[in-house]
Amino acid sequence: MSPYDKVLSKDELISYLKNGKYDAVLALLTDKLDADVFQAAGAQCKIFANMAVGFDNVDLEAAKKVGIMIANTPGVLTDTVAEHTFALMLAIAHRVAEADHFARAGKYHGWEPMMLLGTDLSYKTIGILGLGRIGSRVAYHAVKGFNAKAIYYDVKRNEEFEKEFSAEFCKTPEEVLKKADFVSIHVPLLPATRHLINAERLKMMKPSAYLVNTSRGPVIDEKALAEALQNKIIKGAAIDVFENEPAIEPALLKLDNIILTPHIASATEETRDKMAELAAENIIAALSGQTPLNLVK
Ligand code: GLV
Repeated sequence: MSPYDKVLSKDELISYLKNGKYDAVLALLTDKLDADVFQAAGAQCKIFANMAVGFDNVDLEAAKKVGIMIANTPGVLTDTVAEHTFALMLAIAHRVAEADHFARAGKYHGWEPMMLLGTDLSYKTIGILGLGRIGSRVAYHAVKGFNAKAIYYDVKRNEEFEKEFSAEFCKTPEEVLKKADFVSIHVPLLPATRHLINAERLKMMKPSAYLVNTSRGPVIDEKALAEALQNKIIKGAAIDVFENEPAIEPALLKLDNIILTPHIASATEETRDKMAELAAENIIAALSGQTPLNLVK
């Protein structure tokens, strides 16, 4: 790891930008890009290319005001994030982490019919909150691969998708929470989606249901989730993102009925290469006077 391979604080980022006078910046989701940062970048800086599909780290209004373009990396990570969603969903339902700890602790003394019983995903109802690229890919795998029934909530209804996958549109997120055996979150982080999953909504879920989040941490009230898991309001959860990253609500660390991965849903060798290339292509386009392919408006 190089000494430069670390998350920059806002002060560090600003001081690099002031000293360097860059024409473009390849930014990470850990960089908080606001008016101070854009001012430090100066008038010669044309673009901040975020190496992420999410851009909740960017103040788009502030960028627009100073004429800086913002780009993201959609599409190239869809399959990988969908795969990780299933890695989490299957791991929690089949108690993979718990069973691994059990085996390593020398607790396996012989096969037993009722040992570490899990739950099937096949033929269950999977509820998707946010039917964008990733949400629809998760639904596709669930329906085609696991014969699951897909139900979804999104601000935009997609009747073509419903026909193709015999999926059901729910008029509210609450309807999804009430009906689904597995709820998978794929919404962007917006004021309207912050704490979309709170104590009240967790209580609407079936006690046998699982919650999976590979979107953004603040979509879930983490303390409320810890309480719901402690009190068996829901059966389990598996999350890749946290409300105050890199911090994790300490109560969650003590629970067996949750799987925690450290924001790695798109972290495969193939996909990180593609994300870096796409971010670079967005920069090249901006510096050649063209519109970047993934301009965020
Ligand atoms: C990762 O979280 C991304 O937004 O690409």
